[in-house]
Amino acid sequence: MPPKQRKLKTLDRVISKAGIGSRTEARSWIGAGRVAVNGKKIQTPDHWVDIERDRVTLDGRPLIARSKIYLLLYKPKGYLTTYKDPENRKTVYDLLQDLGEWVVPVGRLDLDTTGLLIMTNDTDFADHVMSPESKVPKTYLVKASMLLTDEQLDRLRRGVELADGPTRPAIVTRIRDAARYTFFEITITEGRNRQVRRMVEALGAKVLKLVRTHIGAIRIGDLEIGKYRELTPKELSALLSKR
Ligand code: URA
Repeated sequence: MPPKQRKLKTLDRVISKAGIGSRTEARSWIGAGRVAVNGKKIQTPDHWVDIERDRVTLDGRPLIARSKIYLLLYKPKGYLTTYKDPENRKTVYDLLQDLGEWVVPVGRLDLDTTGLLIMTNDTDFADHVMSPESKVPKTYLVKASMLLTDEQLDRLRRGVELADGPTRPAIVTRIRDAARYTFFEITITEGRNRQVRRMVEALGAKVLKLVRTHIGAIRIGDLEIGKYRELTPKELSALLSKR
């Protein structure tokens, strides 16, 4: 049974939280015998570590608490939100300079979705923003493949039934109808896989374009597509204030 105390974490997690590599990398370093706890080689990734007391080393060097980085990236279409792709497609990591830190995306955006993506080495923060319990709102601009009626938009507002259960109520605003398409904005507080696309599909339409325009109070503003900047202290504290 995992201990309940918050300061106890598994060894692989302690290493990935130190910002030097992913959890998968940590597990392989542990397996390779490169990691010691209090001077004793440990080869089990699930070994419990008391982060306040135990001394963890990698190749004999102590893990150093890294400074936290919070980046806001304007993800373009055609980039995966993963580190490596077996098919060698472009990933969001191709857009980052060498940061000297291991950052992870806070949630995922589909290959064809553009818009805001936070990347950070603060995994507690990432867990908080992604967790459905935190209810951090995320807003998307959607181009639907057909004209949607008020009744259809109301269904999105009330919540639609998806294969993994009903969606929470959403805030939906019609932006405009142009030719055969409805453009609307939707704000959801969950982050299920392909959620917006699946919600629109539940109405019998398809999403032709999807842009994440806001995460909480954070907006794209004048950030250029494919570029990133650091979150401001004000933006960060607004996201953390819900913790
Ligand atoms: N909802 C989706 O369907 N796709 C995304 O990329 C984000 C939210």
